[in-house]
Amino acid sequence: MSFDTRILCIGAGYVGGPTMAVIADRCPHVKVTVTDINRQRIDAWNSNDLPIYEPGLDLVVGRARGRNLFFTTDVAAGIREADIIFVSVNTPTKAFGEGAGKAADLQYWEKTAREILANSERGKIVVEKSTLPVRTADAMARILNSNSRGIRFEVLSNPEFLAEGTAVRDLELPDRVLIGSEETPGGIAARRAVADIYATWVPRERVLEANVWSAELSKLTANAFLAQRISSINAMSALCEKTEADIDEVAHAIGTDSRIGPKFLKASVGFGGSCFKKDILNLVYIAESYGLHEVADYWESVVRMNEWQEARFVRTMLTNMFNTVAGKRIALLGFAFKADTGDTRESPADAVARGLLAERAHVVISDPKALANARRDLEDVTGQVEFEDDPYKAAAGAHAIAIMTEWSEYRTLDYNRIYAAMEKPAFLFDGRNILDHRALFDVGFNVFPIGKVALKHF
Ligand code: NAD
Ligand code: UGA
Repeated sequence: MSFDTRILCIGAGYVGGPTMAVIADRCPHVKVTVTDINRQRIDAWNSNDLPIYEPGLDLVVGRARGRNLFFTTDVAAGIREADIIFVSVNTPTKAFGEGAGKAADLQYWEKTAREILANSERGKIVVEKSTLPVRTADAMARILNSNSRGIRFEVLSNPEFLAEGTAVRDLELPDRVLIGSEETPGGIAARRAVADIYATWVPRERVLEANVWSAELSKLTANAFLAQRISSINAMSALCEKTEADIDEVAHAIGTDSRIGPKFLKASVGFGGSCFKKDILNLVYIAESYGLHEVADYWESVVRMNEWQEARFVRTMLTNMFNTVAGKRIALLGFAFKADTGDTRESPADAVARGLLAERAHVVISDPKALANARRDLEDVTGQVEFEDDPYKAAAGAHAIAIMTEWSEYRTLDYNRIYAAMEKPAFLFDGRNILDHRALFDVGFNVFPIGKVALKHF
């Protein structure tokens, strides 16, 4: 089969895998190769057991794999043949040296730039898909264009806005695709070439073009705004608990104002996921490095509020369970940071589990998709935590259950059966406000939602 464009994606993770699978599925004329240094991940992408759980992804991969979608560890060969290279490697928070705990760790990123340079025999379009600090494209272009072979690279920013659990839908029907480039003839031509690929299935007016710095900063801004809404509603949830207001009623009342809108107003035990905290801290670091301390403080408070909400949840459990959970079995239902993913990165369930362990509780964790990741995350406390696939077994003999992830199956569990097998008084803490609290109270539970009056039998 002949292809008119060859795309390579470096990094076969939660973003690289699904994004490239959808491009390949929608553009049979484009050859898409995805590469990673992690052989196990690549083997899994080539198997029927994909390395990430994402609804609908197996069908998309199944349609394109072997036709125009390929997964390989041969980065060098992939670079040589590619016209366009997407870089989708991880950009975690730096854990050492200058900026530790806030700045982005760009070591994987820079390594890829050098690899591209070493293996390129002609000019290419290099696309930042990873979330990066504003002005990273400058560093990337300098490394790539420092060659003495006269090879010219165009560096674009095409940040990804997909959310886990809905990645396939978000990629197939995006609100927008954003592509930034230098405002030079070469830069504009490069961004048009990438825009043309997306326009195969995305309406043209949703493919936004911008200067490269705006594109980079828009991604950090979008995540900061989304997280800020959650911290704002969570701040109000604490006030609701003190005043007998109901957070879902407040969210509905404000969300019907078209200027505010209804989305991302669900109060919870806290936001998790690999990006919100990391990207906000990155923004904070950038603001600080430009001397904009008030800007930095403002955004950092979004993260502080989230940490407070997680800690508050543990405190609510502790104080209502007679100020001690030591030795008490507590079942956490859900460990994924949200429903429909097996991803547990920065999950609020981790913070809650550790808070309870610090109080010497006996913690049992259940989750339909994330137990393997939960085991890995809690390796350092092995022996102190139990893992149980079956939520009924997890809850048997427990003093309390706590909903940590909004998995739909938790809405329809047989709570009469669960209650019957628990120690009494039985406590239920709904960290996602997904259950029918009045019905559970009638079953016999003492129910503690987020941002609503607790329903207690004593
Ligand atoms: P991930 O850790 O799942 O995947 C990154 C992959 O890159 C890993 O498999 C790693 O082995 C590989 N890698 C690292 N260095 C490499 C190299 N030199 N050569 C080849 N492969 C290499 O990360 P992710 O969740 O896919 O996130 C990637 C980027 O996308 C991050 O910047 C993140 O902020 C951003 N992002 C993530 C999401 C999300 O939902 N997870 C959404 C939007 C944006
Ligand atoms: C988020 C953004 O939504 C994506 O647009 C972005 O691309 C991505 O981060 C990224 O850059 O990684 P994701 O973290 O996958 O996506 O999932 P979200 O749906 O945003 O949920 C994040 C966290 O907030 C979850 O823990 C979720 O349970 C929580 N949340 C979300 C709430 O507590 N309340 C809400 O109203 C919404």
